[in-house]
Amino acid sequence: MCGIIGINSSKPVSSTIINSLKKLEYRGYDSAGIATLSKGEINEIKSEGRVDNLEKNSLVQSMEGTIGIGHVRWATHGLPNSINAHPHSSQNVSVVHNGIIENSTLLKKFLVGKGHKFKSQTDTEVIVHLITENLKTENVVNSVKKTLKALHGSFALGIIFKDEPNLIVGARRGSPLAVGYGPNENYLGSDSYALKSMTNKITYLNDGEFCIVKKDHVEFFDEEGTKVNKKVLELSSEENKYDKGDYKHFMAKEIEEQPTTLKNGINEYIDKTNNDINIYNLPWKKDEISSVTLIGCGTAYHSCLMAKYWFEHLTSLDVNVDIASEFRYRKNRFKKETLYVFVSQSGETADTYAALDLCNKNRMKTCSVVNVIESSIARDSKFVLPIHCGTEIGVASTKAFLGQILILYILALKLGLLRDDISKNLFVKKLKDLTKLPDLVKKTLMTDNKIQSISSTFNDAKGSMFLGRGFSFPIALEGALKLKELSYIHAEGYPAGEMKHGPLALIEEGMPVVVLAPRDDYYKKTISNMQEVIARGAKVLLITNKSKDEIFSENIWETIEVETTNEDLLPFLLTIPLQKLAYYSALKKGYDIDKPRNLAKSVTVE
Ligand code: AGP
Repeated sequence: MCGIIGINSSKPVSSTIINSLKKLEYRGYDSAGIATLSKGEINEIKSEGRVDNLEKNSLVQSMEGTIGIGHVRWATHGLPNSINAHPHSSQNVSVVHNGIIENSTLLKKFLVGKGHKFKSQTDTEVIVHLITENLKTENVVNSVKKTLKALHGSFALGIIFKDEPNLIVGARRGSPLAVGYGPNENYLGSDSYALKSMTNKITYLNDGEFCIVKKDHVEFFDEEGTKVNKKVLELSSEENKYDKGDYKHFMAKEIEEQPTTLKNGINEYIDKTNNDINIYNLPWKKDEISSVTLIGCGTAYHSCLMAKYWFEHLTSLDVNVDIASEFRYRKNRFKKETLYVFVSQSGETADTYAALDLCNKNRMKTCSVVNVIESSIARDSKFVLPIHCGTEIGVASTKAFLGQILILYILALKLGLLRDDISKNLFVKKLKDLTKLPDLVKKTLMTDNKIQSISSTFNDAKGSMFLGRGFSFPIALEGALKLKELSYIHAEGYPAGEMKHGPLALIEEGMPVVVLAPRDDYYKKTISNMQEVIARGAKVLLITNKSKDEIFSENIWETIEVETTNEDLLPFLLTIPLQKLAYYSALKKGYDIDKPRNLAKSVTVE
């Protein structure tokens, strides 16, 4: 996590750095800071909380310097306060850092022994003092090289030096870092978002590389300090995507955009002329794949779980699902007939990237389902399936979730057809239903008023549960995650049939419980489980789909009916009321919906 920006220019840089930091806030918003070089000194200003706080500081307005670095932090070591905010500086060096230095305690002991005085509780400060120490005997390049060799863990770094007023050093191991090229100025950024308003010409550093950013050119080196040549990539620029229009929050906008984003995804992947899915360029033959392993974190992991049900339903492939942070350290039995699918909105999630890297190193078949096509995960996968849903700004993932499950559903359908696991007739019927999905989502989005009033009950309760079976179980998990992250209410997602094995003990008089019971193969079983929680005093919000059949159950507190479609596609519709429930609960509580506490949009630390 955390965001880095560095600018080397011939004009003053502080206000551009502040503007770039605002764009990077999705990576962390515990604190922010800036350091520039002017009149032979390092000037550093930092503040707790959002970039707005930093901007309000009158000293920032008058900050001089044509070279500088800035940072937004998501705390790992030490409290989120202004002392622990980056940059961290000695008299000679100032550093911004993303990642974690795992041997910081040992290095600190060594540096304290040498007389260095530490101000913060962060791991980053050891980098500052180590470079300062190495500068006593080495030039800039060698001091950085020596320092990087001593660090264990992950980092993306931006470094300025009091005695080198013409350069910024950038370095990368584990955490992503990019260089941008402008007119008479060059930039360093933790990703292309921060740089996009200034340039669309980008170079990404590979693991272990470092660079020297001067105003008129940039030099790249490998870990041994040997110069390397790098490609300059041209990115597409879509500035208007940051605008929240008439909506109060990006999340509200992103929820409402879903009919359009689904339509975009469907248009990209469905070949209407041939009644097919235009994934024609899979780099592997159908007989080379006998199983699929889906890997992700958080909401993306829920997408993987959702896909497991579809892959099992539509194909004869063996399917496994894993949480990336678990997969990367497990003793995996890599199999060459397995397709490893990595799901990530940002494409920068550290655990997911590490899992991908591990598979690549073991020469596995890797495919990613991402939103950001310039991301590290997209770049390093052998095959990429973009979700085409546009930038998602709200920390709580909404349209990207539907985008991910759409593409995973499409992939399952395609593999099912290729392997003759489903007939062409059934395939075409399912494609037809899929093209109607955006309109059904649009209609389901209209159930607004009811959810607004229901959300108060969730806010007043000390906890809640979300239950579902089969296709609805991953959606129950996702609904609970949305409520937790936005409203800070304890919410558990559970398979409805599992309640009697323990969690039923949590049910007490008046506890709100969401039951997802669409009219699918699991309907009757889920309704029985619902009666078990009602009998113990739960206030049940039943979410089902419209049907002429009556619901035979008494004492249901509230019912929401989504539109009707085939059972594969009902999970898309069930998700909508759950997104809105979380949104309205947080709205009523007055919480920061787009930036919930303690979280960040892109989780680039493990
Ligand atoms: C969801 O609302 C989250 N904020 C979070 O769980 C997210 O899905 C997870 O961190 C994975 O992110 P990615 O899709 O960018 O890899």
